Amino acid sequence: MPERVTTPDLSSDDARFDTRLRPRRFEEFVGQETLKDNLAVFIEAAKKRGEPLDHCLFYGPPGLGKTTLAHIIAGEMGTELFATSGPVIERPYDLTGMLTNLKRGDVLFIDEVHRLQHVVEEYLYPAMEDFSVDIVLDKGPSARSVKLNLEHFTLVAATTRAGLLTSPLRSRFGVAQRLNYYGPEELARIVARSAGILGVPVDEDGALEIARRSRGTPRIANRLLRRVRDFAEVMGDGSVSAEVAHKSLLRLEVDERGLDEMDRRIMEAVLLRFAGGPVGIKSLAVAVGEEAETIEEIYEPFLIQQGLLKRTQRGREATPLAFEYFGVGAGGRAGSAGEASGESGEGSGESGEQGSLL
Ligand SMILES: Nc1ncnc2c1ncn2[C@@H]1O[C@H](COP(=O)(O)OP(=O)(O)OP(=O)(O)O)[C@@H](O)[C@H]1O
Ligand SMILES: [Mg+2]
Repeated sequence: MPERVTTPDLSSDDARFDTRLRPRRFEEFVGQETLKDNLAVFIEAAKKRGEPLDHCLFYGPPGLGKTTLAHIIAGEMGTELFATSGPVIERPYDLTGMLTNLKRGDVLFIDEVHRLQHVVEEYLYPAMEDFSVDIVLDKGPSARSVKLNLEHFTLVAATTRAGLLTSPLRSRFGVAQRLNYYGPEELARIVARSAGILGVPVDEDGALEIARRSRGTPRIANRLLRRVRDFAEVMGDGSVSAEVAHKSLLRLEVDERGLDEMDRRIMEAVLLRFAGGPVGIKSLAVAVGEEAETIEEIYEPFLIQQGLLKRTQRGREATPLAFEYFGVGAGGRAGSAGEASGESGEGSGESGEQGSLL
């Protein structure tokens, strides 16, 4: 099975590069201007008052920089970051050691916070609000509860599924910010920066070509850069021009909009099986074999942002652009896209080659 280069999820290979390519300071963090400006103000104000930063929640699709921001916050505040994630904390007391070790202003980063057990979440409430936790000493009749005071720390939490957070948890964050998909120019800057770190010569057009197909996602941009670098080294002198990028990405079967296999499956279902929609999210989920929540949180936002899918009262609908891009005639019949466009060639031209479903 070919490697899926455009899934936004983290692979183990990415994990190594994520750390290496991760911006350490705000100046290096490209894009998300409003969020960055706001955070910079909150950080400066907290520092001026000599106080730790309020608890922060970052949400949005994978690979957009949530973990990176947690590290930047600790860096800017001059404190340490301790990382854990929702699913690994099995019982409340798993957190006690970590919480009591935090120094004033330290960042406790909880990734995938929507996956916290309910009891763990409740244990966190007083820690976040009053900086204290109750622990039970001894068992049986001599058991007693003791309050432990904690230092004033900053909880930074990240989730791709903000909709699954309970409102008591959500309301305990002073700062809650959504990360949005990046534009091609921003991604091109990220590619250029990463290329500098990896020592890959990339010209402006080469960076833009990679950027355009990165699904609005820095992690994918960095991954495509690494793959294109391989092609550039094997096929040429190692430098990445628009042409080299284009050829490599064709070989990798990356769509010109950077759509991944699941994006295409979703669009194919809406366009062909449901004749363009409207289709309810549950039926769509069954048709593509993916959880409805995952579609809503990870895939759909990008397809909507690309203008291919619409969310309406009655369900999901394909846009006219989607019919055109995938070469599907209205009513859900596949058109004559791509190389097979023999007889009824018109309308399937430029976008057909890659967008074609069939
Ligand atoms: N704004 C940015 N500027 C430059 N590089 C970025 C930016 N955002 C993310 N990156 C790069 O993308 C990689 C992935 O970012 P990060 O791990 O922070 O994403 P995430 O939102 O935490 O993803 P997940 O939801 O999968 O945990 C980072 O290693 C970093 O190199
Ligand atoms: Mg992360």
